[in-house]
Amino acid sequence: IIHEDSNNASLFVANEIASLINQKQKEGKKAVIGLATGSTPTKVYEYLVNFHKEGRLSFENVVTFNLDEYFPMEPDSIHSYVRFMHEHLFDHIDIDPQNVHIPKGNLENHEVRQYCLDYEEKINNVGGIDIQVLGIGRTGHIGFNEPGSSLNSKTRLVRLDGVTRLDAASDFFGEENVPRKAITMGVGTIMSANRIILMAWGEGKADIIQQAVEGEIKESVPATFLQNHTNCDFVLDGASASFL
Ligand code: GLP
Repeated sequence: IIHEDSNNASLFVANEIASLINQKQKEGKKAVIGLATGSTPTKVYEYLVNFHKEGRLSFENVVTFNLDEYFPMEPDSIHSYVRFMHEHLFDHIDIDPQNVHIPKGNLENHEVRQYCLDYEEKINNVGGIDIQVLGIGRTGHIGFNEPGSSLNSKTRLVRLDGVTRLDAASDFFGEENVPRKAITMGVGTIMSANRIILMAWGEGKADIIQQAVEGEIKESVPATFLQNHTNCDFVLDGASASFL
């Protein structure tokens, strides 16, 4: 789905999420949304906050699961995805804090394995993710599933690719400060979502979008696995779609 610009594209995605939340509310059910960080989804969150302020959208029946978090990372660090999500979304809406899930970046090493299994179980216990929102990294990563991630991978601790750490360097005042690891939902976790919306803006994403949509399905470009999902949309602006 190609929109004129990222503003229109973000409004489209925000409307899709809002419709699902309102539909589930009518049915008396919870809406389970998988959320992403990075610069790409920020406008979507801005629109959702505005819908809420205008009284058109409540998050009382919403449960969220974030894709990933750097490791190690303290939740109150300016670099944490916990902080990011609160600033861009959670602090401005009526979501129950108990319904918010973001992988913990400050676990002890020996706690990680069980924590990841529990994260998967929490997703399963609410009936799975209704809509998973994704960005895409220049390596073709979704969440932090870097090249080499298998189709069936689940929530786990991963090592970040050099390109990803380089791209994050400016946020961390230098590459040496970017964490070397992250906890991320797996490709398998993402593929289990009922619906997936991947967003990308700008010419810097054009090459990886072309590979993800038209390239051979392979572990070295994890986003290519999405070609086999039956309900996945790539929502793009003209620039990111320019090599298609
Ligand atoms: C990070 C996130 C990804 C995100 C990617 C792209 O690595 N973990 O979920 O998709 O960056 O970032 P941006 O949206 O800033 O281009």
